[in-house]
Amino acid sequence: MQPTAPLITIAIDGYSSSGKSSMARQLAKSIGYRYIDSGAMYRAVTLYAMRHGMIDAEGNIDTEALLEALPGIDISFRINGDTQSTTLGGEDVESEIRSMAVSNNVSPVAAIPQVRHALVTMQQAMGQQKGIVMDGRDIGTTVFPHAEMKIFVNASPQTRAQRRLAELIEKGSAVTYEEVLSNVINRDNIDRNRKESPLRQADDAIELDNSTMSIEQQNRWLLDRYNEIIARL
Ligand code: CDP
Repeated sequence: MQPTAPLITIAIDGYSSSGKSSMARQLAKSIGYRYIDSGAMYRAVTLYAMRHGMIDAEGNIDTEALLEALPGIDISFRINGDTQSTTLGGEDVESEIRSMAVSNNVSPVAAIPQVRHALVTMQQAMGQQKGIVMDGRDIGTTVFPHAEMKIFVNASPQTRAQRRLAELIEKGSAVTYEEVLSNVINRDNIDRNRKESPLRQADDAIELDNSTMSIEQQNRWLLDRYNEIIARL
């Protein structure tokens, strides 16, 4: 009989629309781990703020009102068979949080230190039990600095914009390549330059540039890294 593999913590970070969420979800499925999309949590807080008039048309945030509401914002994940959706106050908001409107406001919300502290605390609680794959921007650096497996994903901004455009068009969204590219570049800049846990590669992360990889190739690459790490434990 095969000995049971030890459970570990897997952190997958990287640039916007780099395909890290799909890779992370697929890996979790293959090895029977829980999967948490930390970006969905920042997106849900942003949607809450937009719905409650805390972000105006120019993107200015009423930070004071948002911080007051923050402890009462109820974010959770619901699993339906093979798919997972994000809920806000019990309502399924999975498709709404992926809209361009939310994408255009999320990075400034995610740069607010108190918002980060609240969500990082929730994420760390979710990871108390190992056997988890979490993806985001600061998982290997801040949320789980001791994760046994850390991956940092990148691809050119043009490739990333093209992939996100295809995803949005498939969902029926009327967006242009230029809009998506400018959102990708803008979020990269805000995420990289914010004061609180900026996007950067952890020193002990394995880098992956998946610009020329197919989905199957990147899934295989990730599973191979997992098997290597487990074999060394
Ligand atoms: O659209 P994409 O999948 O690239 O991004 P996401 O993972 O949904 O994250 C949306 C935004 O949330 C990012 O652009 C970051 O500003 C923020 N974020 C963060 O600051 N820290 C995380 N751990 C995850 C997301």
